[in-house]
Amino acid sequence: MSQTDGAQFASVDEVVEALAAHGYIADTRLATTVFLVTRLDKPLLIEGPAGVGKTELAKALALISGRRLLRLQCYEGQDETKALYEWDYGKQLLYTQILREKIGQVVADAPDLESAVDRIGAQESVFFSERFLASRPLLESIRSADPTVLLIDEVDRADEALEAVLLETLAEFQVSVPEVGTFTTKTPPYVVLTSNNTRDLSAALKRRCLHLFLDYPSAERELAIVRSKNTGLPDALAAQLVEIVRGLRELELRKAPSISETIDWARTLAVLGVTELTATVLSDTASVVVKYDKDVRKAIGAMPRLVDPNATVPEPGHVAGHGHGHGHGHGEHQHDEPDEVDGRAVRAAKDAEGRHDEAYYRTRDSAQPPVPVTPKPKVTADRGARSFGAGLGRKRAL
Ligand SMILES: Nc1ncnc2c1ncn2[C@@H]1O[C@H](COP(=O)(O)OP(=O)(O)O)[C@@H](O)[C@H]1O
Ligand SMILES: [Mg+2]
Repeated sequence: MSQTDGAQFASVDEVVEALAAHGYIADTRLATTVFLVTRLDKPLLIEGPAGVGKTELAKALALISGRRLLRLQCYEGQDETKALYEWDYGKQLLYTQILREKIGQVVADAPDLESAVDRIGAQESVFFSERFLASRPLLESIRSADPTVLLIDEVDRADEALEAVLLETLAEFQVSVPEVGTFTTKTPPYVVLTSNNTRDLSAALKRRCLHLFLDYPSAERELAIVRSKNTGLPDALAAQLVEIVRGLRELELRKAPSISETIDWARTLAVLGVTELTATVLSDTASVVVKYDKDVRKAIGAMPRLVDPNATVPEPGHVAGHGHGHGHGHGEHQHDEPDEVDGRAVRAAKDAEGRHDEAYYRTRDSAQPPVPVTPKPKVTADRGARSFGAGLGRKRAL
């Protein structure tokens, strides 16, 4: 135990209160995990869908413990220098320029190039010293004089090689810089790793960490979160809205709405001065919570039922007819993918049957022979994949 920073919580309840005081609404399971992080020198791995409060929890932990937050945002292809340290090349260069004269003196009476190089070499340690070391978050958290919270965000995006480096560092809380020496920590940082599960993390990493699966919150907690954000939406409507969002999460959407979307929706409805949640007003604003075209149509189709489960509203045919099941095999928590911005697919989807009647297509220019009404392309589940794969065809055509 290494509580030199005085942020000692006596109980799980105290953690719940402290988090709430900083705007983070936690249940006991979540708070218990946080409590353990402050008591055991073990990193915490939080997994779960996007937008459920993983990153926010690390920030809240920094606030309640009064520690400085250091954040390592992971991405594909990232190498360890961005996590550990780099040499501050610019600074080295600046120093050599300013010190040109002095360096000149060192080599002034060297008889030949080789001995000049040797003399400079003997001074190398000056330039590869702590002064020129640019700490990145991992090393910084270990070197830091004051205790820190180290957030390693979206670790699933990092390559396995970096994951191995993280593992090594987290095991010992020390970093070796060959030219300088080994840094060890005075107060181990509280480490929080988050993952959106885009790939499996190594068993070794999981073994080393306390583990928390953070899913969408209970209705009660989600309502508390919405309330805590002072969205301006009356409580009764907020409660109803939370239920509707929960209903949307049960549809097989490509990207289920997260807590931040519930908050945004509440704010939007408040700004519009809505006093009653009707299927119409919710449908009109649905794009605040569902961001993919197909999802929007699915959401709108389900809206009457979500607003009033007993209503017998005829399902709009084409909404129920297709689009269902899309997203399988994509995984739940995809990041933006090119197929969704395929303009043709988007336009074709908008032009779904029923948007205009046949007469519209025929009478646009009655002087012309009637335009054959070609059947609209059906937007089927694999359409996105096909248009994405169409890149191949396009290449061949060039
Ligand atoms: N328990 C919570 N208490 C308060 N706000 C929350 C909570 N969980 C999520 N949020 C809100 O949801 C947003 C998204 O959370 P974030 O931590 O960014 O999600 P992710 O899990 O993707 O890291 C936050 O900015 C915050 O406003
Ligand atoms: Mg996040």
